[in-house]
Amino acid sequence: MTDWQHGFYKLDPQTRRKRLVDGLNLPDSVVKQLAAGGSALGNELVENYLTDYSLPEGVGLNLIVNGRQYVVPMVVEEPSVIAAASNGAQRVARSGGFHAPKQSRELVGQVVLTDVDDIAATKEKILDQAAHLLAVANAAHPSMQRRGGGANHLTVRTPGDFVSVDLGIDVCQAMGANSVNTMAEAVARELTAQGYHVLVAILSNFATNSLQTVTCDVDFAQLATAKMSGQAVAERIARLSDLAQVDTYRAATHNKGIMNGIDAVMIGSGNDWRAIESGAHAYAARDGHYRGLSTWQVKATGLHGELTLPLPVGVVGGSIGLNPQTKLNFQISAIQTAEELAAVTASIGLAQNLAALRALATTGIQAGHMKLQYRSLAVSVGATPAEVPLVAAKLAKSNHVDQERARQVLQAIRKEQK
Ligand code: MEV
Repeated sequence: MTDWQHGFYKLDPQTRRKRLVDGLNLPDSVVKQLAAGGSALGNELVENYLTDYSLPEGVGLNLIVNGRQYVVPMVVEEPSVIAAASNGAQRVARSGGFHAPKQSRELVGQVVLTDVDDIAATKEKILDQAAHLLAVANAAHPSMQRRGGGANHLTVRTPGDFVSVDLGIDVCQAMGANSVNTMAEAVARELTAQGYHVLVAILSNFATNSLQTVTCDVDFAQLATAKMSGQAVAERIARLSDLAQVDTYRAATHNKGIMNGIDAVMIGSGNDWRAIESGAHAYAARDGHYRGLSTWQVKATGLHGELTLPLPVGVVGGSIGLNPQTKLNFQISAIQTAEELAAVTASIGLAQNLAALRALATTGIQAGHMKLQYRSLAVSVGATPAEVPLVAAKLAKSNHVDQERARQVLQAIRKEQK
């Protein structure tokens, strides 16, 4: 390790920035840039803190879920995501909106035993003392029970030569990872004291007890393009859905589109989007074959869409209450409960998926994407805010578009304006 890294975490942010810049031989101006983006909160949240990294935030519009209209803050750097979510949501809103029934919400805390002599007998012994182990879990976090939650049941699985003691824990309105880990570790200590060999005690992100389903029925009229009938578009979308069920290459991209929307809502609401990502992809592979998370079927008058995935989201806890922007976002969305946030998040995922599949089934993705990418391209070659629309308009008329072309267009505009 180089010298400048020694004790880095102990320094105050400004000394840290200076130490980093000197250590890496960066220009002095970097210290100022890093300081300009810094916040007191950031320094409290992560180790070796330098500055805050910002991402654009916009709102997903036109969303109707369970008969209620939502305006949803979304945080994402990809230009087409919020546009696509709003577009898909509008097609569904005009067809009656999304239906996302309230569903059970529970996290799983896993305590895994290793070096087990008799797996079947161990399973039985653990099940025999389920009530005691649940009491141990609850005693480790009594406030959870006072709020109406807590460790409710215990199951035992035997993957390979391990014994997994799974605690089903209701974390009320919170994300709950810390509470679950506290409870799982308490049970681990108890089982260790009883002579078992505990390998690991931790929350599982495969949150199969927090599944959220959302459905929609999109009228054919909402799918039609100038060149294709709504029914023809619906049939191609249904074939794309079939493809994502059988081909992992396509399924991964299909699901990436869904997660484009879901992650953006998760970041905006202060939730742990890595947890949601890992749970979603594990669920997509739950039968041993990775598949599309959503399915689309042609019905008599329209296209029926359905999406199910684990959404163990929270509206309190973690960094949710700390980040003022997150609080503001809850004011904008007016979402009050974790159940409501899960319903809205799943709906945004399905809206996003519909918009992507409709584009793929008709003009292809680039037509819509590129309109938005032109602006980013203009910014990337140094266009000022006033120049961005001029460069984007010229790029839209070009046959070939890349950064080099954007640079040429910008130079030409500047020449013309001299
Ligand atoms: C791009 O971010 C997402 C899509 O590739 C999703 C899909 O192909 O379904 C457009």
